[in-house]
Amino acid sequence: MHTARTEDVRRLYELYPFPRGFERCGPDFVFTYAMRMHFLPSDLAGRNVLDAGCGTGHKLAALALSYPAARFVGIDLSEQSLAVARSLVSEIRLANVELRRENLLEMDLEDTFDLVQSIGVLHHLEDPLKGLRNLGRALKESGLLSLWFYHPFGEADRLIKRELLLTLWQHNWEDMAQGQALMEALDLNLPPTYYGPREIAGSLESNADAYMHPIVNAYRFDEIFAMLREAGNDWAAVDFVNLEGDVKFLNLDGVTDPLTSAFCLRDSDLFPSELVRERFGRLSKMDRLRAVELASKPRGYQLFAGKADSHVQLGERIRGNVVQLR
Ligand SMILES: C[S@@+](CC[C@H](N)C(=O)[O-])C[C@H]1O[C@@H](n2cnc3c(N)ncnc32)[C@H](O)[C@@H]1O
Repeated sequence: MHTARTEDVRRLYELYPFPRGFERCGPDFVFTYAMRMHFLPSDLAGRNVLDAGCGTGHKLAALALSYPAARFVGIDLSEQSLAVARSLVSEIRLANVELRRENLLEMDLEDTFDLVQSIGVLHHLEDPLKGLRNLGRALKESGLLSLWFYHPFGEADRLIKRELLLTLWQHNWEDMAQGQALMEALDLNLPPTYYGPREIAGSLESNADAYMHPIVNAYRFDEIFAMLREAGNDWAAVDFVNLEGDVKFLNLDGVTDPLTSAFCLRDSDLFPSELVRERFGRLSKMDRLRAVELASKPRGYQLFAGKADSHVQLGERIRGNVVQLR
């Protein structure tokens, strides 16, 4: 049994800031496109947004550019990642972003936020539930959590390769050079379309994140829902799933939404048979979600969560995906 610690995670990201180091690489708009399906720039005017585990800030910078009247705080454990984020923020002259070094497992922020996003972070924590509780503390009562996680079905092959590398490397995270040499010798490379049509992947940093990481968890939908409930949330709604070369929005209630319909996962994409589709349509929402993850085997997914009826702020399509957690 090899127990990895937060310090091992920090060491990885100091050497391999995610998703990119200092070489020229602009803001990454992929998550911003999804956020724009829910919020117009005016909706977030004057709002406080926290990006917990912002890394090198490529996604945060894209969001801050798209919502110029909102105020953003990005926190991360890794100084080197924050240094890249600071240079990006100053290069594109963003005045609405503040960056701070914080450990999500120890943070006690003075501010509270209307939106807390954490993309690909909680599943790398020593204590994910504690991290989730801390995010909840940073959220206003009416606020929204926006989280992204790995899914075990789509990630099985990568996680097996990672475990092979860790076994050969003997989990010796203090010697990252040896881990990198073994990763390269095993020819472990994350394809650029691994999580969708376009992702900042295929770099040394994203390969290190994918294969050398000391702490990786992957969760099925109901595992995350149980954790969200324990952390005090009342509802959760899966927004989109990441598939090979594609990102698809879920529309469990079949809401007609001209903005997203072209990007939604249709029942017929999953189940060509009419008989199966008819049966699928009769399932409870949670069982429909189970059928979706079993049939599509996503690599990852994004969801919103919150308290009471805070989902009223979201559009009709995603409100149809809401699962009550208690
Ligand atoms: C996979 S990267 C994701 C970065 C960014 N959210 C993105 O999607 O581009 C995970 C980030 O979480 C940060 N992180 C990991 N553990 C943390 C902790 N305990 N507190 C704060 N940040 C942490 C890492 O330093 C790293 O930058």
